[in-house]
Amino acid sequence: MNDDARHEAARQDDPAPAGAAGETNRQDPSRRSVLWTTAGVAGAGLGLGSLSGGVASAAEASAPAAGAPAAAPARKGRTMVDVPFEGRSTVRVGIVGLGNRGGSMIELFLAVPGVRVVAVCDPVREKAEQAAAKVTAAGQPAPAVYAKGEHDYENLCRRGDIDFVYVATPWELHFPMAKAAMLGGKHVGVECPVAMRLDELWELVDLSERTRRHCMQLENCCYGKNEMRVLRMAHAGLFGDLLHGAGAYNHDLRGLMFDPDYYEGPWRRLWHTRLRGDLYPNHGFGPVANYMDVNRGDRAVSIASFGTPALGLAEYRKKHMPANDPSWKESYISADRTISLIQTAKGRVIRLEHDVSTPHPYSRINSLGGTRGVFEDYPERIYIEPDHTDDQWADFSAYAEWDHWLWKEHANPPGGHGGMDYMMVFRVMQCMRLGLVPDFDVYDAATWTAPVPLSHQSIKAKGAPQQIPDFTRGEWKKARSGMDSEKPAG
Ligand SMILES: NC(=O)c1ccc[n+]([C@@H]2O[C@H](COP(=O)([O-])OP(=O)(O)OC[C@H]3O[C@@H](n4cnc5c(N)ncnc54)[C@H](O)[C@@H]3O)[C@@H](O)[C@H]2O)c1
Repeated sequence: MNDDARHEAARQDDPAPAGAAGETNRQDPSRRSVLWTTAGVAGAGLGLGSLSGGVASAAEASAPAAGAPAAAPARKGRTMVDVPFEGRSTVRVGIVGLGNRGGSMIELFLAVPGVRVVAVCDPVREKAEQAAAKVTAAGQPAPAVYAKGEHDYENLCRRGDIDFVYVATPWELHFPMAKAAMLGGKHVGVECPVAMRLDELWELVDLSERTRRHCMQLENCCYGKNEMRVLRMAHAGLFGDLLHGAGAYNHDLRGLMFDPDYYEGPWRRLWHTRLRGDLYPNHGFGPVANYMDVNRGDRAVSIASFGTPALGLAEYRKKHMPANDPSWKESYISADRTISLIQTAKGRVIRLEHDVSTPHPYSRINSLGGTRGVFEDYPERIYIEPDHTDDQWADFSAYAEWDHWLWKEHANPPGGHGGMDYMMVFRVMQCMRLGLVPDFDVYDAATWTAPVPLSHQSIKAKGAPQQIPDFTRGEWKKARSGMDSEKPAG
């Protein structure tokens, strides 16, 4: 595979295997210097702190002390539980961040009927303009291009003709961008994780409640075909009373993280110098939380995390990176494998794993067990009574009748990750057009992301359980619909 083909395959890196990505490529200094010179980062004023340590200390400062209850701050607005979108015939979208993810997701927004991309933003002008060209190639008017530096997204968020902002930028930018979008009166969908600190999660909850704008974690894995089938089977009682589940982001990203041409700068690798715990819990946690109706009848109450030594990235660097590579200045602290146990209010247990720095085949684990049986993914297999009684795993494809209506309606969805990305974009846009309650809200975004700061804190406290805040402020007890939606009429 040549470099272009490899990058195209890896473009969809997050939930799906990326293929071999070991060798180092040439760096284009003219493009990269926009974002990653020391002056550029320092001048950006986006809350990065020093790249080596500022964010770590901020994250540590924001996490509660070991075992201390994370008290809910006083509510300043009104709940966003069950709040529908205003209906509209066309959803006008602004996209911030047009790298690997944003640059491919734009095609899915353009493929959904009733959606117009009206503005695009990336300080790397070439990327913003390539995205704009995709919009016109799709037969839509040329979008406004925001490429004048690190803060131009604020101008996009101030426009009066945007309904929804999609954020696909480095993690440290998700919070200020989600905030700017809501303050600008837009609903916002953010790539994972929605923020990196506990105080930021609370601030997003408060802002969503005050501005009446939805702030959604665009967790595409919740829309996977298997995940949605298991969800429907779980809610129909096929697993009996639910007891345990597991999810993970176990994806060998060493090659991509050291590849100077893949990400726009080393932002992802640098997070391994700042936090010890699970940097990317959402792909594993989101689907299992949905199976268990977390925030809709159950609640994630506490998390205890354990981390292995952090050796994988340093070992990879030693083997593959030249002696003058800037990465040699970095000290990695993020555990190679993080294992977390979450306890729910109903006493269920969820296991989360994160490992992007050692060799292993791709897995999100995706398992669910109850009093009548168990499902496990990678590879998919099932065992539920009374269908199975012989101690042997059985074929999950026999349960296709339980597929979610989205998957019955879109048998061959376009785009990557087996179609889950399109399913998610289609459904979010459908909810916005028809004026429906979104499948997930700011409380889910905050809950699914809370393991980022809390696993770090727990590992530092030698595995002591950390309280997960009740971002719903008591409303988790109410049963309500979520991903397991009915097909809307019309
Ligand atoms: N859900 C998924 O399956 C999935 C898959 C891949 C990536 N992601 C997420 O998408 C996000 C982006 O990842 P990526 O692989 O595309 O990274 P990337 O480095 O390729 O892209 C990030 C883009 O953000 C731009 N950017 C940086 N600062 C900006 C600013 N101030 N204003 C506007 N744009 C700015 C960069 O120029 C770059 O084009 C991450 O949060 C990642 O976790 C999710």
